[in-house]
Amino acid sequence: MSDSLWPLVPSPRSIDIDHAEGRTLYLRDGGTLLDASGGAICTNVGLGRAEVAQAAAAAMERMSYAIPPFVTPERERLVERLHRAWLPPHLTRVWLASGGSEGVDAACKLALQHFMATGETSRKKIIGRDISYHGTTALALGVGGHVARKAGFESLIPDFPHAPTPYALRSPLGRNHPDFDITAAQALEDIILAEGPETIAAFICEPINGSSGGAIMPGPRYWPLVQDICRRHGVLIITDEVMVGFGRTGKRFAAEHFDLKADIMVAGKGLAAGYAPICGVFATDAVVKPLREKGMAPMFYTYSGHTGACAAADKVLEIMERENLVARSAEKGEALRERLETMLAQHPNVAEIRGRGLFFGLEIVADRETLEMFPTEANMTGRIIAAGVKEGVFYYSGGTGAVRDIICIGPSFTVEDSELDQIAETLKIAIDRAVA
Ligand SMILES: Cc1ncc(COP(=O)(O)O)c(C=O)c1O
Repeated sequence: MSDSLWPLVPSPRSIDIDHAEGRTLYLRDGGTLLDASGGAICTNVGLGRAEVAQAAAAAMERMSYAIPPFVTPERERLVERLHRAWLPPHLTRVWLASGGSEGVDAACKLALQHFMATGETSRKKIIGRDISYHGTTALALGVGGHVARKAGFESLIPDFPHAPTPYALRSPLGRNHPDFDITAAQALEDIILAEGPETIAAFICEPINGSSGGAIMPGPRYWPLVQDICRRHGVLIITDEVMVGFGRTGKRFAAEHFDLKADIMVAGKGLAAGYAPICGVFATDAVVKPLREKGMAPMFYTYSGHTGACAAADKVLEIMERENLVARSAEKGEALRERLETMLAQHPNVAEIRGRGLFFGLEIVADRETLEMFPTEANMTGRIIAAGVKEGVFYYSGGTGAVRDIICIGPSFTVEDSELDQIAETLKIAIDRAVA
C-alpha cells in the first residue's frame, strides 16, 4: 500500500508486509524479517496457523454477532476452558473486552463499582506506578506511568498518584541496593497514608514490568509486602498481565512467580495470540458479589466477547495446552538468556539484560559504569531497531521517555534454537552499528 494511504501519519520506517508464517514476516519486496518481538509481544503460538483462522470463520458463519451479555457456545467454551486450565482458582468471574486498554479501563471501573456497591463511596482513586504502561485510553494513560505517551493530553487524563516501580539497577538507594524492593513497597504505603486509605480503591501493577521499563524485575520481598499493605488498607490489587500473561514469562501468569493474588486481573495479547482482538478481566467473587446484590454490572463494549474472537482464543489456548507451550516459553527463555548473555553481557553499552520466560528487556546506555543514558535526540532505540531490520530481525522498542533505550524481545513460544541464535547475534550487530 502506498504510504499516502496507510498509516495515518506516513513514516519512512513503516514495513510493507505481504504475509506471515511461524516467526517470519514475508515482505512485499521479497525480503523476510524474523519477528523477535512476536508482534507487540503477543503472537505467542506463532503466525499463520490455519486452524485458528478456521475456528474463527466457522463460529462467525454460525452466528456473526450476539450482544455481549447473551450466552453463546463460543463464550461458554472459552470461559469454561479458562476456568479449567488457566485461571487461578480464586478468580471466578470473567468479563471480556477487545483489547488491553479497554480491559484496564473496565478493571478500574469495576474497582470503583465494587466500592459504590459496598457503600465505601469515598474510594475513588487508583494508584499506579511510575514506570508502567496500561494502555492508551485516557484512564489507562492516567493510571500508567508512560510520560511520553501522556504528554500534551494532561487535560484529558485523571491525575492519580504513582508509587515507584522497584528498579534495582537505578534504585535511589544506589545501584542494585539490596533494599530496593522494600523501599518501593514502603513508598506505596506512604502514598496510601498520605492520600487517606479511605480514598483509595485500587493499586494497579504489572507483576513483571512490560515494555515500559523492559522487564524490570520486582525483587523477592516486594510483592509479599505490597500484598500485605493493600490488604491492611482495604485497597484492591489489579494486576495488569496484558503483556506478561498467558505463558509469556514461563508460567501461566506472571503473578504465579510471586504467589501474588490479585482481586482483579487483566490479560489480553496472548489470549488470542494476535489472531483476534480480545482481553479478559477476571475478578474474585468478593469483588463481584456486592454488584450483584445491588443489581449493578459494568457496561459492555459492542465487541466484548465477539464470537470470532472467543473462538480464536479458545483455539489458541487449546494449541498452548496441546503443545505444552507455557513450559516451552520457560525452556526457550533460558536458552535465549544464555545466548544474550554470551553475546551481550559484557557489551560496553548494555547495562542490564533482564526478564523471565520468553520476555527480555535490554537497557542500552552510553556508559555501563555510570549508567549515563544516550541523549534523547540520539534516538538510540530507533537506530538499533532500524539496524536490526536491515539485518533481518525485528525487535520491539520499550521505555517511557524518562526510562529509555530499552530493547524488548518476546518471540513466539514456538521459536527454534537457530532463531534464538539469530536473535542474539543480530542484536549485537545492531547495537554496534547504532552506537558507532
Ligand atoms: C501491560 C500493558 N497493559 C495494557 C496494554 C494496552 O493494551 P492494548 O494495546 O491491547 O490496548 C499494553 C500494551 O502494550 C500493555 O503492555
